[in-house]
Amino acid sequence: MNTILITGATSGLGLELAKLYKSEKLVLIGRKSLSELDASIFNLDNYCQADLSQDGFIESILDFLNKRDINKLDLIIQNAAIGYFGNLNQSNIDALLKTNLYAPIEISHALLAKLSQAGKIVFINSISANFPAPEYSVYAATKAALAAFARNIALEERKKIQTIYLGAVNTGMHQKSGVPVDRFKIENFPSASKTAQQVQKAINKNQKESTIGFLNKLSRKAGKYGLLDILNKKPVNSKKRVCAITGAASGIGKALVNEYLAKGFQIIAIDRDSLALAELVKNEPVKIKSLVSDLASDNDLEKILASLYNIDIFIHSARISAVGRFIETDLEKQKTVLNINLRAVLILTKALLAEQKISKGGSLVFVSSLSHQASYPGAAVYAASKDGISSFARSLRKSLKDIHVLTVYPGPTKTPHAAKYSPENSNENKRMPPEILAKKIFNSVKRQKSSLVPSFMLQVFARAGTYFPYFTEQLMLKTLYKKIEKQNSEASSQ
Ligand SMILES: NC(=O)c1ccc[n+]([C@@H]2O[C@H](COP(=O)([O-])OP(=O)(O)OC[C@H]3O[C@@H](n4cnc5c(N)ncnc54)[C@H](OP(=O)(O)O)[C@@H]3O)[C@@H](O)[C@H]2O)c1
Repeated sequence: MNTILITGATSGLGLELAKLYKSEKLVLIGRKSLSELDASIFNLDNYCQADLSQDGFIESILDFLNKRDINKLDLIIQNAAIGYFGNLNQSNIDALLKTNLYAPIEISHALLAKLSQAGKIVFINSISANFPAPEYSVYAATKAALAAFARNIALEERKKIQTIYLGAVNTGMHQKSGVPVDRFKIENFPSASKTAQQVQKAINKNQKESTIGFLNKLSRKAGKYGLLDILNKKPVNSKKRVCAITGAASGIGKALVNEYLAKGFQIIAIDRDSLALAELVKNEPVKIKSLVSDLASDNDLEKILASLYNIDIFIHSARISAVGRFIETDLEKQKTVLNINLRAVLILTKALLAEQKISKGGSLVFVSSLSHQASYPGAAVYAASKDGISSFARSLRKSLKDIHVLTVYPGPTKTPHAAKYSPENSNENKRMPPEILAKKIFNSVKRQKSSLVPSFMLQVFARAGTYFPYFTEQLMLKTLYKKIEKQNSEASSQ
């Protein structure tokens, strides 16, 4: 008998999966109390009440497993999720991030080591991870980020990770999310029980990725290859004067400060490094205003928002990383990567738009990463954060009529960040100087481009990663991941 853990087992697809696997030993996770649930399925032995959006949920799960002497798991189905429907203002960013992204990452971190030899984690995902989704942009961003996380740890933990993509299913999720039921005819979607059977078949087939349903497969491919973005309209281009940049004290951010200064802009430079910011302001005290703030702090996010108005260009350039084999890295560090690279971007953008702080005809710029196309084993959470913002930017591009949105996919860039996180023997001189990248970003904003892959070679690599991911992934494993692993194991043996 196999031991199978299912999250979000109390309704929808999760409940149907619990029924399908009822002859196995089950660990069913849900936020409801046991007394609310069907006693023919849920009991004290198989049901663990844990709200995945709350701190400490993982301790409840581990405690449950310990008390029942469950040391090995054969299958973990990470299914729980929440959605929302409407404009960005209606999204609860923290609840969405915690349930749909942070929790599955935390569960993977805690339970990967408990998988039996042939055991695996299955992530239930949505084809919206590959779509622009103007009416549920944060949900799609969490799913895109989760897909990137899974894709990258699948490279680190061979055959232990599978992602299953679903199209619309007739479950309670839509009503819970505020979807106007009459507009979508939810009753015509495939049923949860039929979809659960297809999911079970896909689990047995054991491919790294599967999509349920032929049309969903086609739509996902169309989304992945960018066919759903071709009708994006450009907003009116207006004269721009004020540019706010996060991560302004170093690397690409600092190069952007200098580029925009040289072009006559007023700059709002945002960074946590007060000394480096003071150095920037010293040279241009009139043209640069500095905001010393840590994007991981809610107080500082509020402080930033209170100080901003009439911004013509807002560039999200700040980022941090944490490299190494995912299960060996510190989870708190990985959460900080998500907080700075993804959560802060979502929260700032939502508030800037709601409070109309970006001028009409202005630009929002998201500095993502070539990991979006080429994968980044050894930095699965970093890659997740970058796919999260790419997806979010893509949805905004569809929904914002008056604001231009650019996503930048830098490859190796010669910055202090890269020097800190890349393997020791990687060739510094092959990296793109940040000053060149900053010029390309400036020109792309001016021409209102929607994406920038900043060199011909990187464009070739990005295309290869999109259409033939196996080759770029093997290359990334060889040129990056193996070196990172070697470096980390040498460091830990010293
Ligand atoms: N339905 C679709 O059209 C569709 C399409 C594509 C992908 N998906 C994906 O399919 C999966 C299942 O969705 P579904 O349609 O079955 O939705 P659902 O009926 O709403 O079920 C989601 C499950 O997750 C649980 N859950 C939500 N927040 C939780 C939390 N904080 N802690 C613990 N459990 C929590 C829910 O608990 P409660 O019972 O307490 O609400 C429920 O059991 C999700 O990953 C979803 O993204 C669904």
